[in-house]
This record gives sequence, C-alpha cells and structure tokens, in this order.
Amino acid sequence: MAHGRASAHACVRSFQRRCNRSLFTHERQQHAGSRAASIHPGANGAPPYRPSSVLDDWVQREARPISLRQLTFFGRTLTEARLLSSANYVRTELPTRIAHRLRDMQTLPYVVVTNHHISHVYELYYRAFERLRRVPEIRTVDDNDRYCKVIKETLREHLTVIPRLAMGVLEIQGLMKPEETDKFMTTLLRSRISRRVIAEQHLALTETFHSPWYFPDATKLDNEHVDFVGEVFLRCSASEVVQRCAATIRDIVREAYGPAAPVPEIRLEGHLDATFPYILSHLEYIVGELLRNSIQAVIERRRPRGVASPPPPIEVLICETNQHVIIRISDQGGGVPREILPHLWSFSKGPRRQMRLEALNQVPQLAATLQELKALVSGTARHGGGGKRHGGGHGGKHQHQPKKKLPESSLGSLSGRPPDLRLGIGLPMSRIYAEYWAGSLELHSLEGYGVDAFLQIPKLGNKNEQLTTRASMDA
Ligand code: COI
Repeated sequence: MAHGRASAHACVRSFQRRCNRSLFTHERQQHAGSRAASIHPGANGAPPYRPSSVLDDWVQREARPISLRQLTFFGRTLTEARLLSSANYVRTELPTRIAHRLRDMQTLPYVVVTNHHISHVYELYYRAFERLRRVPEIRTVDDNDRYCKVIKETLREHLTVIPRLAMGVLEIQGLMKPEETDKFMTTLLRSRISRRVIAEQHLALTETFHSPWYFPDATKLDNEHVDFVGEVFLRCSASEVVQRCAATIRDIVREAYGPAAPVPEIRLEGHLDATFPYILSHLEYIVGELLRNSIQAVIERRRPRGVASPPPPIEVLICETNQHVIIRISDQGGGVPREILPHLWSFSKGPRRQMRLEALNQVPQLAATLQELKALVSGTARHGGGGKRHGGGHGGKHQHQPKKKLPESSLGSLSGRPPDLRLGIGLPMSRIYAEYWAGSLELHSLEGYGVDAFLQIPKLGNKNEQLTTRASMDA
C-alpha cells in the first residue's frame, strides 16, 4: 500500500500526539501534577499533550557502548563503589537506549504502529521507559537491590517482545518496504540484546557481591581461577560449544523425526583448543541454529528417497587467527532452495510466510536467548524467580570459590519447543547476535549439494557492541 507524503506525516503527528497523551496519562497517574506546568491543553477541546516530551530529552542522549573487556574489567575487582557505578551506568543507559527505539517506532507509518502486536511492544517499551527513567541516583547497596528488582521485573515482562515483533512484521507485510522492515527489526532486536546484556551483567555482578564467597578484602585471584565475570565466560571453547550444541540438537531432531532417524554425524577438526571471552548464550544460540538447519537439511533431503546408507557427516572446522576464531559448518543437505535464498536474512519476506505465521501463533512466548527459552519452558522466568543459570556465583576475583564447572547447556531446554517447528527467524537472529559483538555470519549455498556457514568471532573481546545495523552502516 502506497502512502502519500502528507498523509504519512499526518499519521505520524497523530501517533505522536497519541503517544504524548499516553505519556501524559502515565505521568498524571504516577506523579500527580508534578509536571503539569509543562503540559499544554490541546486545541479545540482536544485532550492535552506535551509538544516537547520528556522522551525528546532522552533521545538527545547518545548510548555509551561497552566491550566484553570492559564488562570483565568492571566485574573482576568488584568493590561496592564499582557495583554502584555499574548500577548508575545501567540506570541511565537503559532509558536512553529505549528512548531511541521508541522514537524509531513513532516514525513508522501509522498503519504499521497500529498493528496490535507492534503497538503492544510500543506500550511495553513506553512503560519500561517511564519506570526506568524515574529511578533516582543509586547511592547505596540497598538502592541497588531495589533497582535490581525493577530490572528483573522488566526483563520478565519483556519476554513477549520477540514473538510479538515476529508476528507483527509478518502481519504488516506490504505496508512497508521489506528492507525497511528488516532494518527496523534488526535495530530493535540488536538494541534489545544490548539492553539485556547490560542489565543481566549488572544483575550477575550484584549477585556475586551478595554471594557467601564474596570477601571485599580478599586478595585478587589470578585469571586461572576465574571462569565467569558476570555473564561473560572468559574461556569460551569453540569446540566444546559445538559438541554440546550438537548433542542437544541431535536429541531434538530425534524427537521430531523419530528415534530411528538417520541423524548425521558431526565431525570436528581444526584448532580445537581455541578459546575466547564471550557470552555463552549468544554463541549457543548461533551454533545451535546453524547445526539444526544443517542436520534438518540432510535428513529432509534423504527422506523422500528413502536412502538406506548413513547420512553424509556435517563437518565443522574451527580456525583460530590472531584476531578471530572462525567456525565453518559444512553440510550436504542440498543447499538453500532457490526461492528462499534471496530472503534468507529477512524477518518479513519469503515463501514460508504463512507457515511462519501459523508456527508463531502456537508459541505464546518465544525466547531471544536460550536462557530465556529455558525459563519459558520450565515456567520459571529466570529474572522473575531470581534463579541463576550459573548457580549464583560468578567468578569475581574476590571469592574463594572453586573453579566453576561449565554450566549445563541451556540448549537442553530446546527440547521443550514443539518438534518440527520452524519459526523462520533463527538465521536473521543469529546474524544479529554475531554482529552484535562485531563478528559476522555468512552462508554460501552450493545448489544441489549443501551449505557452508561461516561464523567469525573477534577473539580479543576488545570490540565495542555494535548498536547500528548493517543496513544503516551500508547506507
Ligand atoms: C527487553 O527485554 O526488551 C528490554 O529492554 C529489557 C530491559 C529494559 C531490562
């Protein structure tokens, strides 16, 4: 549907008025009259709205990106002062980052923002913005504990964001150019990952601070005794992650295709000792998704022909360079069908749209990370119940804590996903995760033969999170 310029602008203005009004309502309820001086009555008896909203002030602020190294540095010598400094960073950063996304949503065409899924997400974000921007400076550990409760609650409330967005973009197909929809989705999702990273890292540091093995005056432990700093796994081993993901995906696939299904073997070679600092759940998401695609492609290619011989293996090569670790996953699943190839990275387009819509409708909540998925499957949203995936203790240098065992793979939770459910957002989502820490994900399809997927990860942890999208960088 085409929109004239003038009518699109009218739509945006009308939407912004609506938003400002809803902001006004929130404020009136929560801060009775405290900001009334800045509210102007609307013309001709229309409800009042504030022409220059609080949101504008927050949109003026720039996000301050961080790197894995900074996250680690902060948590490694955790003192009360550092914990409070982390809290105040998160306190200003969350509303800033949300404000930018709210503004993006306000500039979407009216027909798009009135889609019930998109407007649901908008309302969630506005509520979170309103709640988080009002948090006063955090000066004490008690203040911080109260703040952490707010963060946990918000993280839990936002578990519905991904499925809502995924359904929303499918429903608005045709109302926006697919490239614009994808750019909007990519920016929104990347920003969501970023907010959850900083929020979860702070929760993890707070948990360490309160843990029984935290001694503020303890001497520093050397690096060998520390596996995790907050959510950052300092020695993430590419080969171990591949093996763990492979085992879990094989189980899931057997569940979907039956115990006798000829599941291909996964052959691992190359630099098997390569390790790097990373957020484990991000890597598991990407590798799990790539392996699932490969295994499924191999099985499905052979199924109609009833081939009896063992399926061709999936070959995983790990290559470590000075700056990067590269994981190549090669399958012989026949390659990507020609009609799907142009839409491989798209959230909004592609021949499987109807199937995706139906699949999404079966999933009331869809997780962005595997921990979220685990929380959903077990029915205990992690940040609602306060349970901690890594068992509560994150290796700050203060604790006389035994070297931590690798956590059980959060991929185990995938078995709770209905079998055979292809949601269709795994690949674009995986690329967003890869690019978020300045890595990349490419796929090369060899028609009629198979696919080579290349995942490149910067291994030094010194790259800032990437908050801009590929599309906007290209522009
Ligand atoms: C999200 O999950 O979408 C968030 O923005 C969470 C954050 C506000 C804590």
